[in-house]
Amino acid sequence: MLAEIDTLQKNAIEAINAASDLKDLEDLRVRFLGRKSRIRQLLSLVGTTPPAERPALGQATGTCRKAIEASLKARQITLQEAADHGASFDLSLPGRRPRLGKSHPLSQIADELTEILQEMGFTVADGPEVEDEYHNFDALNTPSDHPARDIHDTFYLTDGRLLRTHTSTVQIRYMENNAPPLRIIAPGRCYRRDTVDATHHYAFHQIEGLYVDEKVSLADLKGTLETLARRLLGNDTRVRLRPHFFPFTEPSIEYDFSSSLKNTGWLEIGGAGMVDPAVFEAVGYDPERYSGFAFGFGIDRIAIIRYGIDDIRLFLENDLRFIHQF
Ligand code: FA5
Repeated sequence: MLAEIDTLQKNAIEAINAASDLKDLEDLRVRFLGRKSRIRQLLSLVGTTPPAERPALGQATGTCRKAIEASLKARQITLQEAADHGASFDLSLPGRRPRLGKSHPLSQIADELTEILQEMGFTVADGPEVEDEYHNFDALNTPSDHPARDIHDTFYLTDGRLLRTHTSTVQIRYMENNAPPLRIIAPGRCYRRDTVDATHHYAFHQIEGLYVDEKVSLADLKGTLETLARRLLGNDTRVRLRPHFFPFTEPSIEYDFSSSLKNTGWLEIGGAGMVDPAVFEAVGYDPERYSGFAFGFGIDRIAIIRYGIDDIRLFLENDLRFIHQF
C-alpha cells in the first residue's frame, strides 16, 4: 500500500503541474482530494489496518495529502497570475518604440565650442564643482574683503566649501600643476545666488580659456573671441569689447556678440582679460617672463542667440517637448 501511495503522489503532482487552466486544476483537486478520491479511501482505511501497520500508513497518507495540497496551491498561483496578465496583454498590439536619446542643446554647444578651440590648439582641463574659497576667490586675487565677491554670491556648504561661481577656478588648479606654456579650456557648470530671469539662472554653464606663453597679447585674445563668434554663429556675427574690471585680469574686458541673422541685438557673452601678475605669483609663475589671456564664455547665452530662445530657464526645465527640438 505504501508503494501505491507513493505512485499516487507522483501521478497527482505531475498532473497538477501540467494543468493548463484553473478549471483543469479544480477538476484535478476533486479527483485527487475529493470525497471519492483514493486518498480519502486510504485515510478511512487507516483505522481498520492492524495496529502495527497503522502509524506508517497514517503518516504516508497524511504526507501524500499535504504534498498534493501544496502543489495545487502553487499551480493555482501560477495560473492565476497568467490569467491576470493575459487579460491586459494583447499580443496583436504594435510594440512600443523606445525613444532615441540625444545630446542636450547646451551640451551640443559646449561640444562644438570645445571642438573649435581644440582646433586652435587648446586642450581640455577639468576641475571640481564643489570648490574651496582659495581656488574660487583668493588665488584669483579676490580676498575675502573684496567687493567683487558680492556679485559672485553662491551656495556654501557647512564645511566652508562652496559651489564654484565660475570656471576660472580651473585656471588656478591647472597652473598649480603645470608649467607654462599652456593653452587650456575648461567647460563646466557654475552656480550663483542670482535672481533667476530670462538671461540669468542659479545654475549655468561656462567655458574657460587660458593661454599662457611669452608675449601673449590682447590682440591674440581679440582674434580668438572673433574666431569663436564667427565659427559658432556665422560670419556676419559682430563682436564688441568693452572695458571692465575683474580682480584676476588686467586689463579686463567684457564682450558682447550680435548676430544679424537672429536679430538678437547685443548680448553679453562673457568676461576676459590679460592674466593679472598677482595670479601668476599665486601659482609660482614668473610674471616678468610670461603673459597670458583668459576668458569665460557663457554657454547658455550662446544657446539663446543660436536658437533664438528668449528665456534661459527653458534650457534647464527638462521639458522633453522643448529639448527634442534641437
Ligand atoms: C566671470 O565669471 C569671469 N570668471 C569671466 C572671466 C574669465 C573674466 C577669465 C576674465 C578672465 P562674469 O561674472 O561676467 O565673469 O560671467 C561670465 C559670463 O557667464 C557672463 O557674461 C554670462 O554669459 C555668464 N553668466 C554669468 N552669470 C550667469 C547667470 N546667472 N546665468 C547665466 N549665465 C551667466
